[in-house]
Amino acid sequence: MMKTELIVALDIPDLKTALNFLRRLPPSVRWSKVGLELFSAAGPEAVSAITATGRQVFLDLKLHDIPNTVGRTVAALARCGAAMVTIHAAGGPAMISAAAQAASSRPIKIIAVTTLTSLDQSDLASIGLDHYTPSELTRRLAILAVRHGADGIVAAPTELPHLRKELGPRPIIITPGIRPSNSPSDDQKRTATPAAAVRDGASFLVVGRPIVQADDPAEAAQRILAEMQEA
Ligand code: C5P
Repeated sequence: MMKTELIVALDIPDLKTALNFLRRLPPSVRWSKVGLELFSAAGPEAVSAITATGRQVFLDLKLHDIPNTVGRTVAALARCGAAMVTIHAAGGPAMISAAAQAASSRPIKIIAVTTLTSLDQSDLASIGLDHYTPSELTRRLAILAVRHGADGIVAAPTELPHLRKELGPRPIIITPGIRPSNSPSDDQKRTATPAAAVRDGASFLVVGRPIVQADDPAEAAQRILAEMQEA
């Protein structure tokens, strides 16, 4: 398994502010996450401008559409320079395969999101998935995604140990919900420290507010990197 890397979530409304913020981070932070907000505001330029600073972009757009559309979208996103992009595993086997196929000849990796952590048992029942707990559904979708060619999945820290065991050492597992020791959990309910997530087999940790809203983001990032190294 490769060394765990830190991804800073640029949950920031515009590109200028995001680039100014990135300038304050140490070069050892090699990855940033661009989500729907920043991509909707700034478009593909958000990706190209960030990669021009020497950082890699995890593009969290959670694609979910018919296979042909998702495949062509993955090709377009690879052209703008994103290194990883998310799809919804719930799009099904053909959609996952179309994404994987489009990525196979390009420098972009496909990461599947499984069950949104905002969904609880009663939400699953309301969309007809009453036979699963969120954790069972996550496991099922994770296995489906990897079997159909996804390079990895997104998983909450609490799901990490058994998913890593289930999927083996190769698939990328990206974990949000990370909170350094002594930091508020904000609206994250199931959190882990950076060291615990590294020990449990995460490939990448996604951290937003503990760095973006810190008085000294560089110091906050360094502290998290140090906690990851201790693991
Ligand atoms: O600010 P915080 O560290 O909680 O940010 C975590 C990032 O990971 C946010 O961009 C959030 O949208 C994302 N995320 C999450 N939980 C998930 C999936 C994604 O917090 N289940």
